[in-house]
Amino acid sequence: MTKSEHNSLVKRIARYESDERLQHTLRVEALAVELARFWHVPEDQARMAALLHDVAKDMPHDQLIRIACKSEDPLVRDMSSTPASVVLHAPVGSLIARDEFGVTDARILCAIAFHTTGDPSMDDLSKITFLADYCEEGQHFDGVKEVRRLLYQDLDRAMAVALRQILAYVAQHGWPLDERTARAEQAFSREALQARQP
Ligand SMILES: [Fe+2]
Ligand SMILES: [Fe+2]
Repeated sequence: MTKSEHNSLVKRIARYESDERLQHTLRVEALAVELARFWHVPEDQARMAALLHDVAKDMPHDQLIRIACKSEDPLVRDMSSTPASVVLHAPVGSLIARDEFGVTDARILCAIAFHTTGDPSMDDLSKITFLADYCEEGQHFDGVKEVRRLLYQDLDRAMAVALRQILAYVAQHGWPLDERTARAEQAFSREALQARQP
């Protein structure tokens, strides 16, 4: 992606996002690119997924539901039955990336769709997008440092710890849980454990 392509993409995304959201998006991009270089994931894929990950986040809730429910995409339809409506902007964001920004790479679309819930099937690009969103330098919640420490050591362990924190947070607030998050946490905890065994 050239600098001028990048600038015009950011300008287009600014039409979908508040100023504050756009600043978050740019911080996610910076960390995602850094992680992509470190983990040998194509930089442009990480940049694109990060830039578009929250493109639907500022959309009104009824519009998110409408778009998700009438989608022909099986993953989006599956994700739209979530009891945790906060996650809907992720699958709808993947549709906007595809239909309005011309993204055809399924890995980028999955990274956007899974950036809030996680999923057991996530590849390194999806993990990087998820973790960059979770750990970008504007995030200051308890526990973020623990995940940041793992970013350059073990992506699966970083995922397992982040997902465990999310599950605890959701339970603590009594919010509805998307099952995908629980399944992802189990899968990544298992992966991380296996990797540590001699
Ligand atoms: Fe998001
Ligand atoms: Fe985000």
